[in-house]
Amino acid sequence: MRIGLIGAGNMARALAIGLGEPVVCADPLRERAQALADEVGGRAVPANADVVDACELVVLCHKPGQLGDVAAPLEVGETIVLSLLSGVALADLRAAYPGARCYRMMPNTAVEIRAGAIGLADDDAGDPDAFAEVRGLLERLGEVLVVPERLLAPLTAVAGVAPAYMALVAEAQADAAIRAGVPAEIAQRLVGASMAGGVAVLRARGMDTLAVRRAVTSPGGVTARGLAALEAGGVRTAFDSAMDAVLGGGA
Ligand SMILES: NC(=O)c1ccc[n+]([C@@H]2O[C@H](COP(=O)([O-])OP(=O)(O)OC[C@H]3O[C@@H](n4cnc5c(N)ncnc54)[C@H](OP(=O)(O)O)[C@@H]3O)[C@@H](O)[C@H]2O)c1
Repeated sequence: MRIGLIGAGNMARALAIGLGEPVVCADPLRERAQALADEVGGRAVPANADVVDACELVVLCHKPGQLGDVAAPLEVGETIVLSLLSGVALADLRAAYPGARCYRMMPNTAVEIRAGAIGLADDDAGDPDAFAEVRGLLERLGEVLVVPERLLAPLTAVAGVAPAYMALVAEAQADAAIRAGVPAEIAQRLVGASMAGGVAVLRARGMDTLAVRRAVTSPGGVTARGLAALEAGGVRTAFDSAMDAVLGGGA
C-alpha cells in the first residue's frame, strides 16, 4: 500500500521513520517535504492533491485547525484517509471528506522507534478490510489499542504526553541521585536502565502494579520509606492534575 503524508512536520517524520518505507509527502515548505523524502525514501510532491493521487492511504499530518483548508480542494475517491489530528472528531473528518473512508488514530512520537502507544477509534467506516489494513499498518509502529472514539482524548493524555512525562520523571530521579553523590553520567544511565527494567517487569506481570510493588517492598524497608515519601509528595495528585490539565487544554 503506497502511503502519503499531508504535512511533513514532527509527527509525519516520526511515522515515516517508524514505517521504514518510502512515502509521498507534501508540505507548504517544499524543502521540509524534500528533506523527509531524502531521509526516509520516496518523494516530495508540490501539492496535497499529488499525494492523494499517488497513494492508497493518506495520513493527515497537518495541524487540526487546517482541516477545512486542506480538505476543500481534494478529491480523495478510493484513497483511505487516516487522521492523527488531535481533537478532530470522525464526524468532522467525514464532513470534510464526504464519502471517503476516514479513520482516526492518536499516536505518540515513540512510533519513530516502533515503540508507540497508538489509539485507533473502533469505527470501521463500513469497510472492515480497509480498517484491518490501517490497523495492520499501525501495529508495525507499536501497541495499538482499538477503542471507542470518546476514549481517544484520555488515551492521548496518557500516551501522547508519555515521552515528556518520562523525561521529567527520569530527570527528577537522576537529579536526586546526583544530590546523593552519584556522578551525573552514572546517574542518568542508572535511571535509564532502572526505568527500562521496571517497565519490563511490569509488562511481564501483566501490569499488576500492586503485585510488583509488594514484591520489592519489605515491611519497614527502604522501598516502603521511599514510596511513602513519593505519596506524601503528592505523586498521584500530580498525575491527576496533569490529566485534568491536558483534557481541559483543548487540541
Ligand atoms: N507531535 C505530537 O506528539 C503529536 C502526537 C499526536 C498527534 N499529533 C498531531 O499531529 C499533527 C501534526 O503535529 P506536529 O507536531 O507534527 O506539527 P508540525 O511539526 O507543525 O507539522 C505540521 C506540518 O503541516 C504543515 N502544513 C500546514 N498547512 C498545511 C497544508 N495546507 N497542507 C499540508 N501541510 C500543511 C505545516 O507547515 P507549516 O509549519 O508551514 O504550517 C507543518 O510542516 C497535529 O494535528 C497534532 O494534533 C501530534
